[in-house]
Amino acid sequence: MHAAPISTFLLALSGMVSAKYGFSYSEDDFRDSGMRMYTKVINGKITGTNYYPFISQLFRTDDGGSNFSFECTGSLIGSQYVVTAAHCVHYSDRTIMPAKAFGLMIGSAELATADDVQDFYNVTDIYVDGYRTESANDIAILKLDREVLPTVATPVKIYPYQVTSSLPVEVAGFGITKLDSTDLSQELMRALVSVSNSTQCEDFNSSWDNNSGPLICSINENGNDSCKGDSGGPLVAKLNGERTLVGITSWGVNMDFTNPSQCGNNTISYYVRAANFAKWAASTMGVDYTTVIQLKD
Ligand SMILES: *[C@@H]1O[C@H](CO)[C@@H](O)[C@H](O)[C@H]1NC(C)=O
Ligand SMILES: *[C@@H]1O[C@H](CO)[C@@H](O)[C@H](O)[C@H]1NC(C)=O
Ligand SMILES: *[C@@H]1O[C@H](CO)[C@@H](O)[C@H](O)[C@H]1NC(C)=O
Ligand SMILES: *[C@@H]1O[C@H](CO)[C@@H](O)[C@H](O)[C@H]1NC(C)=O
Ligand SMILES: *[C@@H]1O[C@H](CO)[C@@H](O)[C@H](O)[C@H]1NC(C)=O
Ligand SMILES: *[C@@H]1O[C@H](CO)[C@@H](O)[C@H](O)[C@H]1NC(C)=O
Ligand SMILES: *[C@@H]1O[C@H](CO)[C@@H](O)[C@H](O)[C@H]1NC(C)=O
Repeated sequence: MHAAPISTFLLALSGMVSAKYGFSYSEDDFRDSGMRMYTKVINGKITGTNYYPFISQLFRTDDGGSNFSFECTGSLIGSQYVVTAAHCVHYSDRTIMPAKAFGLMIGSAELATADDVQDFYNVTDIYVDGYRTESANDIAILKLDREVLPTVATPVKIYPYQVTSSLPVEVAGFGITKLDSTDLSQELMRALVSVSNSTQCEDFNSSWDNNSGPLICSINENGNDSCKGDSGGPLVAKLNGERTLVGITSWGVNMDFTNPSQCGNNTISYYVRAANFAKWAASTMGVDYTTVIQLKD
């Protein structure tokens, strides 16, 4: 395969940001209630692979590998497996995209360029857990065409404990960093966000239960947030000094209809709770459950 010319590659990158990702579901899903949905690091800071040695970039090609566009962020969770959001690998009618439509850059905190295409990992299989009928199951595991060496990236383990509003969590991704821009960040960004308690989330969403199901609710009060392009990326908390995977960036919704800001203040972000899917992830990868989770010392 020949690497695409750099200009084309970059064009494709910025060309797709505004229209597509970002929107995890078609807007139709919530048209009745008059709400607009957004997926959505705002206010973040640049971070390196020392913090996120598992970070992955998911690119999509619709022309057999000549042009690639950035699709989503992901995390390496096994030497040959990446976890991301299911909506990143589905068309808007919820049919799944072919595995060959994807290429991944693993273990780099800098956005891939055309020169990196020759090193992309290909995808051989895509696994989902009922996303087609259950939107909350916004998780997908991608099997890579080869193992990722420990010198390239280290898999992240899942945080298996209850997620409470006192847990300090951080979100990371390559998504847009300014609300009025469609440019992706060239470097991985991270920001501290907060897990919200049920009372807070119920105020806006009467059908909200708690942070112990498939989703984690995070109301953005300080402007720190995930945003378009961060979908599929990690929500992390430290355990024994190691960063562990608490959630996967899924989607967001604006709480203020008069001010349709897409991310940041006045929005709720939802993250898929990784622990809810840990058993499924382990069986998908053919490993023991205990090997995918991180226990406290
Ligand atoms: C990976 O996929 C590209 C198309 O995107 C193809 O040209 C290349 O040969 C594939 N690499 C391997 C090792 O299969
Ligand atoms: C790649 O994208 C560019 C810009 O959209 C287009 O001109 C070119 O034909 C595409 N290449 C292929 C092989 O489709
Ligand atoms: C926003 O995130 C940045 C980067 O992680 C952090 O330094 C800052 O303290 C956060 N702000 C708030 C109010 O949490
Ligand atoms: C939920 O959070 C709000 C705002 O921080 C706080 O006032 C309330 O007491 C909390 N409720 C519970 C049950 O922790
Ligand atoms: C409300 O919470 C439920 C989960 O209980 C979720 O499925 C739904 O999408 C949320 N709706 C909004 C508008 O935030
Ligand atoms: C969370 O909500 C579910 C219903 O969706 C309920 O079955 C479960 O007991 C609740 N868990 C906690 C810890 O409140
Ligand atoms: C978000 O809210 C914080 C705290 O109220 C404020 O300092 C910040 O300027 C707001 N950001 C935007 C983009 O409105």
